Amino acid sequence: MAYISEKRELTPEIKQLVLSAPEIAQKVKPGQFVIVRCGEKGERIPLTVVEQDEEKGTLSIILQEVGNSTKKLGSLEKGEEITDIAGPLGNPSEVMNFGTVVCIGGGVGTAMVYPVAKALKGAGNRLVSIIGAKNRQLLILEEQMRKISDRLLVTTDDGSYGTHGFVTDALEKLIADGLTIDRVVAVGPVAMMSAVCRITEKQDIQTIVSLNPIMVDGTGMCGACRVTVAGETKFACIDGPDFDGHQVNFEELLRRQRMYLQEEKIALEKENSDK
Ligand code: FES
Repeated sequence: MAYISEKRELTPEIKQLVLSAPEIAQKVKPGQFVIVRCGEKGERIPLTVVEQDEEKGTLSIILQEVGNSTKKLGSLEKGEEITDIAGPLGNPSEVMNFGTVVCIGGGVGTAMVYPVAKALKGAGNRLVSIIGAKNRQLLILEEQMRKISDRLLVTTDDGSYGTHGFVTDALEKLIADGLTIDRVVAVGPVAMMSAVCRITEKQDIQTIVSLNPIMVDGTGMCGACRVTVAGETKFACIDGPDFDGHQVNFEELLRRQRMYLQEEKIALEKENSDK
């Protein structure tokens, strides 16, 4: 059990919760996640740990309300309790001094790239960050990313803030401007991570993608996070979440995601017609 010691609304649909969970706060490393569950019958929700405070015994998570379970979690208020919390889970991200690292966060993926970016900066890397969202309202953690980055580029799909365009446009510009990049870390929608890898592959820049966004139950049981990496089947929640982006079969992943979207749509329509 964990209780909510703080709650912040980052956007109407994206909430940040600070949870009191001392044991996990002591152990968690950048890139790892926890699974939370609201109610005895609630679904398991895997969430990246954005920050932790070992002394206070708290950890911070960011969630986007997309289905019933995340809506329920997002509706909890300060002082309320979360039925279950388990973690830290997944493998920590590789953190060492690579040289110049570009960390890219798309949408709520920024919450997942932030702890890794911070650790990479702490390890002595020159950190250039790119964060993007559909529009200004959906942009999160700008201030925090700015604080830890040597340079921060912001993009919005609709041009309502920062540079008009995608995070990949900003990455291409950095490359065109002659920046020598030793490593790229990208977290966001699958299509975005795939597009980043297409660019970096041509330049031979090692690229790590964190496949947290495709996880559903985070336990190795639902199979939603199945992914082919270097011709082998892997599970993002157990074998990852970080993988060599150039080895990931994104085509297959995108195909499967489209299938899920279709199923989700049918489930949502059914739910609405049952009301
Ligand atoms: S998220 Fe369900 S198996 Fe990995």
